[in-house]
Amino acid sequence: MTGTTFMREPEQPDVGGGLTPNEILLLGDGEVVILDQTQLPTEVTYRRCREWSEVVTAISDLAVRGAPAIGIAGAMGVALAAQNADHDDVDAYRSEVARAAQALVASRPTAVNLPWAIGRQLALLEEHPGPTEAMTASLRIFAKRLHTAEVGRCRAMAAHGAPLFGHGAQILTHCNTGALATGGVGTALGVIRAAYAADPTVSVIVDETRPLLQGARLTAWELARDEIPFVLVTDSMAASLMADGFVTHVIVGADRIAANGDVVNKIGTYGLAVLARAHEIPFYVAAPTSTIDLATPTGADVIVEERDPAEVHHIGLFGRPAADPKSPVRNPAFDRTPHAFVSAIITEQGVHRAPYGPGLRDAVDRSAPLTA
Ligand code: MRU
Repeated sequence: MTGTTFMREPEQPDVGGGLTPNEILLLGDGEVVILDQTQLPTEVTYRRCREWSEVVTAISDLAVRGAPAIGIAGAMGVALAAQNADHDDVDAYRSEVARAAQALVASRPTAVNLPWAIGRQLALLEEHPGPTEAMTASLRIFAKRLHTAEVGRCRAMAAHGAPLFGHGAQILTHCNTGALATGGVGTALGVIRAAYAADPTVSVIVDETRPLLQGARLTAWELARDEIPFVLVTDSMAASLMADGFVTHVIVGADRIAANGDVVNKIGTYGLAVLARAHEIPFYVAAPTSTIDLATPTGADVIVEERDPAEVHHIGLFGRPAADPKSPVRNPAFDRTPHAFVSAIITEQGVHRAPYGPGLRDAVDRSAPLTA
């Protein structure tokens, strides 16, 4: 199944890259349909997951990736498990949904959006009086409302963040934080989209983001489709570009923000934050409140996913070998940026500055509750 017109519903907003939210992630009847990001930028293809285990695979393979997007996909996976479970045996039904929930939460350990979303679904199920048909309907409604809520959060972040960038801003960004990562206009990329819409002299510097090239494959693809000017650079070029005055701001997303404002995000983020501080360049983080983990005191408490060495031995997802496959490898997918290096955190509630603790707590308290 190919083509970007699949699933287009006219009333849905264009969230970037010419895509609508349902063209990124869709909970259908008996299936979760996922735009397969492993095939971009060369092909727009979809994975149709008819079993929850296929959603687990799609998340761990990075067919769907980015913190808000995996939260939504996980919630859709739970709803699919519920739909396929035995509705005549309430105990079997509950244990099948719990089994799926556990596997989906474990599919990627770092982004908090996945346990955040699925935890709410399990709490919903716990309190639900039944019958099982009604429980399934509630889990489906929750997953769809979560998707809609993330789309709205992205728009609010974009509006709050855009004024931070002035005329002629040259904004460096890392990884992919756009429509593909969120189902909406994006976190950091949503802010960039809004800054460019307000002032077309704004341009973007896209880090390729080794080892899996989310910047080169996905961010460049989204920006090109939106005709937003950008240059693609390798990760190692950031320091000299900053020293030569080509970078006016850095903005990234987050997979988990600890209660003290420490930011866990794609590997390479910490290095950019240190470089930005050394060159007196503002370093911003954009993330919805669903990415804030008040139960985790600091970044040091977050588990960083260690991925397959083959991703470092090769260039690109299925690329040619770049190293002797026997070479020992480290492949942490994320790093921790201490809050002291962060100039501001943008959520859907506004722009938060240090000390981050009280502002983040307040933002989470004010965020709209999600029910089914
Ligand atoms: O491994 P990925 O591609 O899922 O990593 C994604 C990131 O690190 C993003 O920066 C993060 O999820 C924020 S995007 C909304």
